[in-house]
Amino acid sequence: MLARARAEIAASCEEDLPSVMDHFAGGGSVPLEAQRPGLESHASDLNPVAVLINKALIAIPPIFAGLAPVHSDPWRPAELGSWLGVQGLVADSRHYGEWMREQAEARIGIDEAATTEQLEHIAELIPQEWIAPAATGSPAQCVEKIRGQFDLGCDGVIMHGTSPDQLSPIVDEYARTRPANIFDGLAASPGA
Ligand SMILES: C[S@@+](CC[C@H](N)C(=O)[O-])C[C@H]1O[C@@H](n2cnc3c(N)ncnc32)[C@H](O)[C@@H]1O
Repeated sequence: MLARARAEIAASCEEDLPSVMDHFAGGGSVPLEAQRPGLESHASDLNPVAVLINKALIAIPPIFAGLAPVHSDPWRPAELGSWLGVQGLVADSRHYGEWMREQAEARIGIDEAATTEQLEHIAELIPQEWIAPAATGSPAQCVEKIRGQFDLGCDGVIMHGTSPDQLSPIVDEYARTRPANIFDGLAASPGA
């Protein structure tokens, strides 16, 4: 399928395969899909997290193409021969990812199903400045945090809650107390 796509692209570009540049690459889907049929891909983004994702997705894997993993893989029979594509990198990622998970579990003491006590323990480890902007506490306290976002110049705030029951008292409190007319002149959905 990828070979056919590559041939179609080549045919429509007089055999000269184009390179692809996504200046707003986000999660990297455009440069990744361009790379799959063999086009040269470039990506950039304003957001450093997006840049990191694109490096991990697009820039780093080709460096390890065809290479064996650096750890020894007991599950791979020797007769399979050379490592194709990024199989070696995938094997290393699995191996060291598992090691990191074990280390996190040993040092912090949780896996993905933590108890309330364990989560309370983790809460003490998280730097306060990370959680300072979170809307917590009573509905009135949450609304104060939300209003603070508008004071900083936001046009809209997306609210996340674990359940509608948790969120609706906050929405009610916000509707009850929000200043009139602050959205005059804005679209109903500014992010759309
Ligand atoms: C909708 S996402 C991109 C989605 C991606 N192109 C795709 O197809 O999956 C928009 C991206 O543009 C980035 N962005 C917004 N303004 C930008 C700017 N002025 N310069 C560079 N990147 C910007 C954002 O950080 C965000 O990652």
